[in-house]
Amino acid sequence: MLNIKVIEGEIEKFQADVIVVNLFEGVKNPGGATGSVDTSLENIISELIEGGEFSGKLGENLLLHTYDKLPSKRVLVVGLGKSENFSPKVIRNVSAQTSRYLRGLKVKKIASIAHGVGIGGHEVEYCAEEIAQGLLVGLYRYDQFVKKSEVIIEEFTIVEKDSSKIPLLQKGINQGQAIAEGVIFARDLVNTPGNHMTPTILSERAQEMAEKNNLSMEILNENQCAEKSMGAYLSVSRGSFEEAKFIVIEYRGNPDKSEYNLAFIGKSVTFDTGGISLKPAADMSRMKSDMAGGASVLGAINAIALLKPKINILAILPATENMPGSKATKPGDIVISMNGKSIEVENTDAEGRLTLADAVSYVIERNVENIIDVATLTGAMHMALGNVRGGLFGNNQDLMELVIKASEQAGEKFWQMPMDEEYKDFNKSDVADIKNTGGRLAGAITAAHFIGEFAAEVPWVHMDIAGMAMTEKDSGYFTKGSTGFPVCTLVKLALSME
Ligand code: BES
Ligand code: MG
Ligand code: ZN
Repeated sequence: MLNIKVIEGEIEKFQADVIVVNLFEGVKNPGGATGSVDTSLENIISELIEGGEFSGKLGENLLLHTYDKLPSKRVLVVGLGKSENFSPKVIRNVSAQTSRYLRGLKVKKIASIAHGVGIGGHEVEYCAEEIAQGLLVGLYRYDQFVKKSEVIIEEFTIVEKDSSKIPLLQKGINQGQAIAEGVIFARDLVNTPGNHMTPTILSERAQEMAEKNNLSMEILNENQCAEKSMGAYLSVSRGSFEEAKFIVIEYRGNPDKSEYNLAFIGKSVTFDTGGISLKPAADMSRMKSDMAGGASVLGAINAIALLKPKINILAILPATENMPGSKATKPGDIVISMNGKSIEVENTDAEGRLTLADAVSYVIERNVENIIDVATLTGAMHMALGNVRGGLFGNNQDLMELVIKASEQAGEKFWQMPMDEEYKDFNKSDVADIKNTGGRLAGAITAAHFIGEFAAEVPWVHMDIAGMAMTEKDSGYFTKGSTGFPVCTLVKLALSME
């Protein structure tokens, strides 16, 4: 990963291929570092602003050659938009867009001021975290199966005048790097196509991550899951040649405590064909992302293991394929879940909730205080909130508030959905305790209620990220393909529960 440094100094005196300064929209006479650079460049920046060629709008870039007036060859002035809309999240997006732009110019060595710290007046540590995160995740590309492009940014240095801010900047960079590592790990797992991301391969990636961070882990095979009576989960893998792998990872940041503060359960369907209730061909390839919940849990645990909050977390990935093989579960089949409830499988494409039901029963047996599940669960969620927000559902408003706060800190947008009791009736079966579909209406809510039935009294929040796992284009810190959403929220939640 690109190494980010912080040094004390004045940016106009620093030598790099490009130095990056900034401007808020509407500012006519730049101050701070941008002002110093402007002075060195004989006021060319203010003149261009005056002439209307640069206004500081969000996303605007002004690239200038210095003609030996500065040690660096070029200056990039980036627009930060209106100061009243400014936040550290804006910094993350600006940092990402700027670094992609500079990579396009084949720049190798960049120096930048700490955006937001001076004029923005924001918390130093937080700004540095967002600069680092934006830079690293914004430059992400999935290039496992293509010829790698040779130009990469080699050096990124934050230059800060005020020496008292250096330790905080360094702390923020470390935190941003840890989270970025988690996001990038998750993106790679999700972007990898189904033939290279089977349950077995996913369990190997999980094991590598656990070993690297000294976390204990266990991978249950199908026989071991059968011994635990995970009939719901195993009903999904029946149609596949690939063996299901129930992945369990333990993070123990507080060894004095025996309980787990949190369980993170991530839906890990490595490819969802729909099973016998087969999906249409158009866009089915997107279903390689049906393990994005599990990937975000692994990414978050990776970051958490680096940041070491004093809490305990049990992470579960009930990995399986959903295939229409000759042994596959058929619509109408009745299966028995781990906690003894019978389930009518009305539609084999509603497989995620079957895997999560047994994962929830499993963590309850292991003494967890709070359960968070993350899942690309329903097309209905995608329809309802599009690709702007993920949906939140739960049975405990205190835990919900913690999650909402964490998501705000993470800059990952969610919206709490209603869980009225009336919706529960939609899941009633004539022949079993419950059925796995609730009809055409309110599909994301009935799916959530299905999982909630297994969480019972344990505080639980469900994140439906069906619309958020993949994106069509580069935008801000998101890059085309997998987003890594909501790794950052999970990390912030863990840090907030210390
Ligand atoms: N993996 C899908 C949900 C999904 C859809 C994720 C679109 C991302 C984008 C899930 O397993 C599924 O197929 N759900 C069905 C449930 C229905 C049969 C009750 C759906 O939403 O159509
Ligand atoms: Mg499905
Ligand atoms: Zn699915």
